[in-house]
Amino acid sequence: MENNRVLSPDENGEEYLIKNLRPKSIDEYIGQDDIKKSLNISIKAALKRKETLDHILLAGPPGLGKTTLSNIIAHELSSNIYITSGPVIEKQGDLAAMLTQLERGDVLFIDEIHRLGKSVEEILYSAMEDFQLDIMIGKGPSARSIRIEINPFTLVGATTRSGLIGAPLRNRFGMILEIDFYDEISLKKIINRSSNILDVEINSEAAELISKISRGTPRIANRILRRVRDMATVDKKNVIDIQTVKKTMDILGIDMYGLDNTDRKILNIIIKNYYGGPVGIKAVSASTGIESETISEVYEPYLLQRGFLIRTQRGRCATEKAYKHLRIKYEGKNTSLW
Ligand code: ADE
Repeated sequence: MENNRVLSPDENGEEYLIKNLRPKSIDEYIGQDDIKKSLNISIKAALKRKETLDHILLAGPPGLGKTTLSNIIAHELSSNIYITSGPVIEKQGDLAAMLTQLERGDVLFIDEIHRLGKSVEEILYSAMEDFQLDIMIGKGPSARSIRIEINPFTLVGATTRSGLIGAPLRNRFGMILEIDFYDEISLKKIINRSSNILDVEINSEAAELISKISRGTPRIANRILRRVRDMATVDKKNVIDIQTVKKTMDILGIDMYGLDNTDRKILNIIIKNYYGGPVGIKAVSASTGIESETISEVYEPYLLQRGFLIRTQRGRCATEKAYKHLRIKYEGKNTSLW
């Protein structure tokens, strides 16, 4: 995926910086109230009954706090957490090695769980359901299956593509939590909290503007805040104000909706090369030079949520709002194509 933009929700090597802004406990976590409520109840109940917590699937666009939440879950359970990701686990043996090391009640976090290979996914089924591993040893006529007991554990899976998780895996999660974009009020609180941790003062208007241009995504809000802080330092300002934010937005090419050059490029190409759509993702990818996966996982969710794009059976279409935003004359949609 593309990694070099401020608005990319990819972690992008800033992990060690972002980490200290990450809330550690559920009380520190801002926003996503429904998710916090259901997690709180299930965690408390599991602790009270001295049982392991049900497996949890966290689904939603990147940067919304899936990794943070899984760390919080382990923290609240006072358990160890082991973190891995779908593409890293290549063989059944890789997963078996991890699962057999777990102690009772540990949390195993598998990021991008939709990218697990089929044979690896298959051994997860009995591991999740019965805390047993059924592994084939050898090949051909001498192949045999061995069964290994493992300690009860909680699997937390994260995915940006919940539609790619098939029923056998999906059904083994006790809780499926869909994380949505944050509202501006929550983002403003997150920005104020982060400013405190970063020891920089920001006024209310400036925090509000950052919350508006952060695409509903805390990771982006924190990243913009750091760039704005740099600007304030260079401009010798003790308090971040709205001018500092606007100046930073100009340099980064971020507009009032939080769209950057790449978002506008995608919309422009759909409008100018494909008459506003409908157009398939592969064609958009070829024309923009951006990988299809990056378009559909990183750029599109926000463009869809804010109504710049719609998805029809025949492909993506730019909306009237997109035309207006890019100052291109809108001549009505071609309904025969939609
Ligand atoms: N930093 C990043 N995400 C956060 C959240 N949801 N609550 C508090 N601080 C955060």
